[in-house]
Order: sequence, then structure tokens, then C-alpha cells
Amino acid sequence: MTPIVKAFFDPETNTVSYLVQEPEGTACAIIDSVLDFDHASGRTDTSSADQIVAYVRDNDLRVEWILESHVHADHLSAAPYLQQELGGKIGIGEQIVTIQDTFGKIFNEGTEFQRDGSQFDALFQDGDSFHVGQMRGDVLHTPGHTPACLTYVIGDAAFVGDTLFMPDFGTARCDFPGGSSEQLFESIQKILSLPDETRIFVGHDYKAPGRDEFAWETTVGEQKALNVHIGQGKSIEEFVEMRDARDATLPMPRLILPSLQVNMRAGQMPPADEKGNVFLKVPINKL
Ligand SMILES: [Fe+2]
Repeated sequence: MTPIVKAFFDPETNTVSYLVQEPEGTACAIIDSVLDFDHASGRTDTSSADQIVAYVRDNDLRVEWILESHVHADHLSAAPYLQQELGGKIGIGEQIVTIQDTFGKIFNEGTEFQRDGSQFDALFQDGDSFHVGQMRGDVLHTPGHTPACLTYVIGDAAFVGDTLFMPDFGTARCDFPGGSSEQLFESIQKILSLPDETRIFVGHDYKAPGRDEFAWETTVGEQKALNVHIGQGKSIEEFVEMRDARDATLPMPRLILPSLQVNMRAGQMPPADEKGNVFLKVPINKL
């Protein structure tokens, strides 16, 4: 089964959102959408998500799923907006409860913030499957970047979120709370055990030395041969040493604080105050 995959690249956050469509039919799923957010002004905008809405409407598609590979730390999810416009169920990994617990504490959320994943329509475990029209999707739990990261395998296409990036860029950071480079190594082995011809669609691209164009599609075979962090059978020891040293040099993503507060709520803003105003918090010296 070879689904039709349409990518939407957001240059502001280097995020790739995907629309996965059954080859003969109108059912589709949206993976890792973006709600535009200007941090300086606190303004949201739906321009990026509206490109997906327009594509769905122009092609008469039926959205069955709005999937998150994980709780993103670098962009806000547009899942609730897309659901309102297009329908579909919002799904994420069941380990979201760990993320909600960790960041519920960091942001001092009250008891009204449920830490049971109930903001989402579906919580997936490793080995679960779902359907997009006639296509079957399989869920792999691939933690390391975060505890709740999933890879969605739909037909011959694997949507790996932030685990592997393009072979010339490498792999995702593992230094957020609950991250683990050992776990990421094991998760990547799981992805690399898929057939060599499996198409891999990555969650971000930042270009790479010697490459001045954005790219997001590769294969398991190419990753095994060429990935600069993990290809050619790198050992877990080599990988962990490289990854942890590199992570120690990385700044926090620009939008981490707003992203986490919104994305841990399935893309909803925190509840408004009695006058209808919505606020996000900046915890001091916590991250
Ligand atoms: Fe991420």
C-alpha cells in the first residue's frame, strides 16, 4: 500500500506537516500541524493550517485522524483548529500522561488541568493499529526525544516525528525532561528494522552542510547507510556520547514555553480568566 503523501513545510519553525491520503479514495490523516504564533506579540494565526484546510477542501478529502507524533517543543499544534474546520479525531501516544505530569508541575497548573490524556480523542500504545479509510496505520512507540514519541507507519510510509532527521543532519535532541539518548538509539533501531524501501518522512528539516534546500523524505535503507549520527552500524556507546555532548551545546527552542503549555492540552489554550483573557506562563529558571 502506497499512500499519497503531501508535505507542508513551515519555514518559521522548520516543521513539516503531512497529509496522508489513501491511494484510491478520499480518506486522509493530518500529522503534526502548525498553529502560527508570534511570541513577541502573543498573536496566533492560522495561515499555515489554512493551507492544509484548503488542500483538503480542494481535493474533497475526508479527514479521519489528526495525529501528533509527540508534544512538540518548537511549535504550537493546530489540531483543534483543524478539527473544528475539517473534523477527525486527535491522537497522540499514551505516554502523554507523563508529559502532562512533568509540565503540569513546571507550569504550576491547578487541579483543573487533567493529567490523564483526556484532552485527546485517542491515546495510542506501541503495537496499536488504526485505519485511514482502507489503509491501516501501525503505531510504534519510539521514545528518547520525549517519553511519548510515536512513529506512525501507514502502508510503505513511516512518519518518524523527531527521532531521525534527514541522513545528512542526523537525529533529534534528547535533553528535554524525560528524554534519553539510550532510548532514542533503541527507538531508531526499531524504525531501521522496517523494510529498506520504507519511505521515511521526518518532522523537521534545517538543511545541512553541503545542502541548501529543505528536504524531508528519505528511506530506511538510506538512513542505515548514510545517517551521520547512527548509520553504518554505529554503536549505542558512540551514539550516546555524541548525542549528549551535542545536546549540552543546544539552546532551548524559541517557542518551548508556549508550545508545551498548549500542546500538552492537545493544542488548546489554557482556560480563559473571568473576562475571557487567555495567558501563558513563563516559569523562571525552570528549564
Ligand atoms: Fe520535537
